[in-house]
Amino acid sequence: MKNKAGIIGVGSQVPEERVDNYYFEHIMDTSDEWITTRTGIKERRRIAEGEASSDLAFNAAKKAIESSRIKPEELDMIIVSTITPDSSLPSVSCILQDKLGAVNAAAFDLSAACSGFVYGLTVATQFIENGMYENILVVGVETLSTITNYEDRKTAVLFGDGAGAAVVGRVEEGGIRSTYIGADGSGRDYLQISAGGSRMPASHESVDKNLHKVTMSGSNVFKFAVRKMEEASIIAIEKAGLAPEDINFYVPHQANIRIIEASAKRLGLDMEKVYVNIDRYGNMSSASIPVAMDEAYREGKIKKGDNVVIVGFGGGLTWGSAVINWSL
Ligand code: ACO
Repeated sequence: MKNKAGIIGVGSQVPEERVDNYYFEHIMDTSDEWITTRTGIKERRRIAEGEASSDLAFNAAKKAIESSRIKPEELDMIIVSTITPDSSLPSVSCILQDKLGAVNAAAFDLSAACSGFVYGLTVATQFIENGMYENILVVGVETLSTITNYEDRKTAVLFGDGAGAAVVGRVEEGGIRSTYIGADGSGRDYLQISAGGSRMPASHESVDKNLHKVTMSGSNVFKFAVRKMEEASIIAIEKAGLAPEDINFYVPHQANIRIIEASAKRLGLDMEKVYVNIDRYGNMSSASIPVAMDEAYREGKIKKGDNVVIVGFGGGLTWGSAVINWSL
């Protein structure tokens, strides 16, 4: 019989500095009113100079490990989802492996943008279920402020920095009942960072033209997101052998309050059952779901035995969803 995988510890970390909407009113043609009504965002966090993704990831991971009551050396694997690593070599996961003292863990980063945490959770679940590993740390971390073009009002106001982590381990009851991940690379142009890779290595020109920053076709992503959030949630719920009315709590990716509300409505979920922190943090890409999950648990909104849906979408394009019978 398969082992059961579940989340046995969670943690998160956001930077100290808060950047409110009025900051943007001073540097570009926008307003608190536009940002609030079109996105639901009031403020976001930004790392300090000298700080990097692995610093946030380390603190989130430490809290998740403490909450799981395992020791770092009991970790078999570390998976970090990020599109903003400290550098392209080494991986953030290897930095964490060293700093945490997770001497027995394999470590790798994965890139699936905002869906990355669900991708990581899916990989971890396989290793636990097939009996190969017992404890796996999955982290979603982003420092999107480092790839934001502060001259582009269509993207600058949306993003924030943060990290969330979960330890996935063997559980007796409940656990991760289903996961579902997918991709559609034909939509890859909708969200892009053009320079800094092998196609266009860094040059004076690429820096002068701001090509290391993210660009986005907002309305195309918006339409895709509303459709996919519902579709992916339904597939994960069905794979778990459940119906939407069996869902106790919904933790969606935090990209836009209008996307969250539209997908909750399509699923017939009351907003009381939906976690929202986009007002405080903006879109933290792969960190959004694990930070929201950690906060919802700590606030008592997710309790042991609850069926929780997590669902995300993002650049690539990618998407991912899971149903977790909460075991903490
Ligand atoms: N302030 C004021 N006006 C603005 C701003 C701003 N910050 N940004 C755009 N506008 C203007 C536009 O220029 C446009 O003006 P125009 O009609 O004169 O051309 C008008 O507002 C409407 O623009 P739209 O892009 O149609 O606005 P929309 O209602 O679609 O909202 C938004 C834009 C918030 C980006 C929305 O499309 C969205 O949330 N999209 C999804 C983004 C997303 O989910 N990304 C996730 C992936 S992130 C990742 O993977 C890293």
